[in-house]
Amino acid sequence: MVTVSRHAHFNAAHRLHNKEWDEKKNQKVFGKCSNPHYHGHNYELIVSVTGAVNPKTGFVVDLSWLADLIQREVEDRLDHKNLNEEVSFFSDVNPTAENIAIVIWNLLKPHMSKDHSLKITLYETPRNFVEYSGGYSFRNLT
Ligand code: NI
Repeated sequence: MVTVSRHAHFNAAHRLHNKEWDEKKNQKVFGKCSNPHYHGHNYELIVSVTGAVNPKTGFVVDLSWLADLIQREVEDRLDHKNLNEEVSFFSDVNPTAENIAIVIWNLLKPHMSKDHSLKITLYETPRNFVEYSGGYSFRNLT
C-alpha cells in the first residue's frame, strides 16, 4: 500500500460555544476561542489516500483529481467563511478542529474508491493539529 497526500489551505472564522452553558462556563472551557465576535485561523489541510498503485497509471489516485475534489468539496465550502454562521454542518456542532476534520472526511469519502482509505490531517495552528480516519459518526453531517 502507498499513501499519497495533497496539502491544501483555507482561512475561516469560528467561535467555540456550547449554547447549553452560560457565558462564564463557555469562557472557562473555551477561553479566547469563545470570543462572541469570532476569530480566524489559517487552516492547513492534508488529505491522504492509501491504496494500491494502479499498474496502468502508476498512481494511487491522480493528484490533480484530488486537488480539484478538495477545492470543490472543502475549500469552496469553508474558505473565507464564518463556520458557525455560514456552514450548515456547524449550526449545532461546535466547529473545533476535531469536528472540522470529521466534516471534511465526510465530504470527501463518498468520492473515494472503496479500495482506498482516507485520512484527514488538519492544522488549526502550526502546533495544534488533529487527524481523522473515519469511524466516528454523529447526526447531521451528511
Ligand atoms: Ni479558534
